[in-house]
Amino acid sequence: ETQALEAQFDATVAADRRIEPRDWMPEGYRKTLIRQIAQHAHSEIIGMQPEGNWILRAPSLRRKAILLAKVQDEAGHGMYLYAAAETLGVDREDLTERLIDSRQKYSSIFNYPALSYADIGVIGWLVDGAAICNQVPLCRCSYGPYARAMIRICKEESFHQRQGYELLLAMVNGTDTQREMVQESVNRWWWPSLMMFGPPDGDSPNTQQSMAWGIKRHTNDELRQRFVDMSVPQAAALGVTLPDPDLRWNADRGAHDYGEPDWAEFKAVISGSGPANAQRVAHRRRAHDNGAWVREAAQAYADKQAARTKE
Ligand code: ACO
Repeated sequence: ETQALEAQFDATVAADRRIEPRDWMPEGYRKTLIRQIAQHAHSEIIGMQPEGNWILRAPSLRRKAILLAKVQDEAGHGMYLYAAAETLGVDREDLTERLIDSRQKYSSIFNYPALSYADIGVIGWLVDGAAICNQVPLCRCSYGPYARAMIRICKEESFHQRQGYELLLAMVNGTDTQREMVQESVNRWWWPSLMMFGPPDGDSPNTQQSMAWGIKRHTNDELRQRFVDMSVPQAAALGVTLPDPDLRWNADRGAHDYGEPDWAEFKAVISGSGPANAQRVAHRRRAHDNGAWVREAAQAYADKQAARTKE
């Protein structure tokens, strides 16, 4: 019987149709999705920290309103993604425990601090830009609930990317000091943004199987290349220099050549020793502990309602 179910699963994936929560799926497929979706949800939630830190210091009411809306969107993305993960039989509470015990990863990028207001623009332009590049293909992921969550998330991410670019356009049209702030910020965020796509294909243990299952649609290096090619004309339009002396157009490949990110730094960051890992996880743990009374109150209310319906 398992063979028949497996054949049906393979046929669904091969025909580019969606696998739904009640369908049979191989254990490895389920595990891979839980790993990726949980990591993705954690990234959205932890990703609120570097920018949230600037809400009180935004330079105008307009900028504050935009930033506040953006950070709230990230919380919403985390919620859709935890809900998608729950369709695979895991519990949100348990996933949060795994995050705050550092048993599950979140994106490397959120372990870098946002040091200046220009970082708010650069995070929108480069970090959200890289996120869109990686996530648009996930709208076609073979797992239905994840694919559908990604459609809404990508629409909101593209608004985030534009607000970042618009902020940078305002800054580069401002004073010399503002232009210097933008360049200094780009210098710090460029390489970590390239690392968001994950290790080079040769060192990526999960890509091949995830592509066979239709979870990932492109390899890490394919998406990284797409991001580099997309960013070069945008950098030129802003008048900033991307900090890579090896970056140049390769007419034979019809793509830009670029330098090698520092993979030792990437490994250190994803194994917990990046510039802000300890601070990010400690902050998330504190927020979770501080919210305990809200969860208890909600539970007590739900129990009371349930008892009333029984009467
Ligand atoms: N940050 C942290 N960990 C990473 C990163 C990264 N940038 N890239 C890869 N890893 C981890 C993988 O999770 C995997 O670890 P694990 O096996 O312990 O889980 C390991 O490095 C090896 O990498 P791959 O084999 O390439 O892993 P995978 O096939 O999962 O590809 C990728 C990684 C591309 C990040 C994929 O998981 C993905 O597309 N995820 C969804 C997008 C996402 O999570 N975005 C979050 C940031 S964007 C935002 O929130 C604004």
